[in-house]
Amino acid sequence: MTHDEYLKLIETLKHHANLYYNQDAPEISDYEYDRLLHEAIAYETENPLLARPDSHTQRIGGTVLDKFEPFKHPTKLPSLGNVFNKDELIAFTQRVEKGLDLQETQYTIEPKIDGLAVALYYENGKLKVGATRGDGSTGENVTNNLKAIKSVPQTLSEPITIEVRGEVYMRKSQFATLADQFANPRNAASGTMRQLDSSVVASRNLDILIYQGTAPGIESHSEMMAYLKKLGFPTNPDLHVCNTAIELHQRAKELEAKRQTYDWEIDGAVIKVNRLDHQDILGMTIKAPRWATAYKFAAEEGTTRLLGISVQVGRTGVLTPVAELEPIKLTGVTISRATLHNIDEIARLDIQIGDDVTLLRSGDVIPKIIRRAKRHPDSRPFIMPTSCPVCDHPVMRAEGEVATKCVNIMCAARIKGQLSYYASRSAMDIEGLGESVVDQLVDDGLISRISDLYTLNKNQLLEVERFGEKSADNLLNALEESKAKPLSSFLAALGITYVGKHAAQLLAENFENATAIANATFETLIAIDGFGDKTAHSVANTFADPTFKTELERLAHLGLNPQSQSCHDGPFSGKSFLITGTLAQMKRHEAEAKIKELGGKIASSVNKQLNYLIVGESAGSKVDKAQALIEKGAPIQLLDENAFLQLLS
Ligand code: IVH
Repeated sequence: MTHDEYLKLIETLKHHANLYYNQDAPEISDYEYDRLLHEAIAYETENPLLARPDSHTQRIGGTVLDKFEPFKHPTKLPSLGNVFNKDELIAFTQRVEKGLDLQETQYTIEPKIDGLAVALYYENGKLKVGATRGDGSTGENVTNNLKAIKSVPQTLSEPITIEVRGEVYMRKSQFATLADQFANPRNAASGTMRQLDSSVVASRNLDILIYQGTAPGIESHSEMMAYLKKLGFPTNPDLHVCNTAIELHQRAKELEAKRQTYDWEIDGAVIKVNRLDHQDILGMTIKAPRWATAYKFAAEEGTTRLLGISVQVGRTGVLTPVAELEPIKLTGVTISRATLHNIDEIARLDIQIGDDVTLLRSGDVIPKIIRRAKRHPDSRPFIMPTSCPVCDHPVMRAEGEVATKCVNIMCAARIKGQLSYYASRSAMDIEGLGESVVDQLVDDGLISRISDLYTLNKNQLLEVERFGEKSADNLLNALEESKAKPLSSFLAALGITYVGKHAAQLLAENFENATAIANATFETLIAIDGFGDKTAHSVANTFADPTFKTELERLAHLGLNPQSQSCHDGPFSGKSFLITGTLAQMKRHEAEAKIKELGGKIASSVNKQLNYLIVGESAGSKVDKAQALIEKGAPIQLLDENAFLQLLS
């Protein structure tokens, strides 16, 4: 490194330390920060005379915000040195043993919790004051906020006076409930602790784990932890005692392997000399104790360039933007793509093509972009395509929806998903037509739309891998039987956006068949009780689509044209009814069921074709509308509840 590069590095560290400590808005991961700090330390060690006094290597950390009362710690809260691999770990234990002039000593190893360091002061067993670490010498007095954390004991089991230190953190399960307010649990914990209103802290369910204490008569760190536990403190649950660097390394690797199983984030393992008198002998450097170090886990976060954003079409037609990344290695795996979910996610992250972005990879979970690291002058915004990248059909993004969808039911990317859905248990329930069979039939070119299913013959099926006489017959029978399925199942099976079981049921109650729906106006659809704007629009648009229409016609031709079971013969046959206002003697749906039972139809709005408007309590504008139509000669009859009951009997 040249001296100029070193000076630049010092500035970079300053910039990132400010973002991390003062703004809770880090742009690089801790791991990267530590790496940079390491580089600076290496240069300063080799060139001590050139080291800058304002270098961040000379300081412990952040500064005090002016929101809370500053709190001067009686003894400094140091930070920790880092080791990144076995060799560096061995070098650490060698330094320790040399410092103690011993062949070996005992060490402890425990998870390093990724949260916010605090010190708590108890007098006669009562919590007196608690403060953040701040710059190590002066922190912020956050006593009220600490008292709002349930796991912080207010009273100890013994009336002693003691200082303890620990990490305030947010559980991953709790973080998951905070929906996008913070980039990660650590920021969430630290952002929460900076709240001036401690009721906010209470509502966020923070936690604490205590990892250090001072009390007379105790000889080792492991004993101290047992004692603190007895006093009522939550302590780090996974403390191990080891004798050698090799054992420590093994244990660190074990912790790394199971890091995902903790409900809190751990970013490494803390290794400490166990005996407290040995700790005293070793003492401190300006920055950190010589008797402890952090074994940092392999990078989970890393920053790389967003080279482009491609668009994938999923099985339901949803267009998913995918980040194409300059390859980066995280936890041993090279990553070059990551899902961006939808256009809102891109807006939330505020990222553009060409930006540097920070990725997170936790264990074997799929990598995720968690924030923008840097905007470049040539970065450019991503625009969602207006037509499907697979079939070129225009795409649609319904108002208020995050997903952009290809609505072409013939889109190649949608076909497999659509056919599997059509055959699934919650739709047409066609036995023997599971996902893998559908994929096979599509891959073999035998089917590319729902109607093709009904053109399949036995000879074709026998050609398909895994099909024999029996399975072919069974599938053909199941397909034949599906022709008798109710209209509601058929409508639900078509995969129309917003038309699941419930909406399909409503459609089947209001229309005789698919043709009747296709002929309905938007006004008729929106008037269906239980239909909102989005559903009505989706139905109207889908049934107006020429490809969809052709498919429906083809299906009808092949024997699939279910008729509504709600419309059958009876004394009310051919008559339409509409209920407005509240009925006193029966519920609206009971009245509607009665009408349908007698062969009547429930209209969706007041129009010229309506036969009966049943007027209940506090009826509204429907009555006015009916009266206006009656004046123009429409044969609508207005019935009050009693007249309606008479008609029923
Ligand atoms: S011991 C002198 N033990 O890591 C030793 N620290 O990067 C002081 N941390 O400031 C720290 N878990 O906030 C220790 N089990 C643990 C820890 C732990 C998390 C934090 C602590 C410290 C930082 C150093």
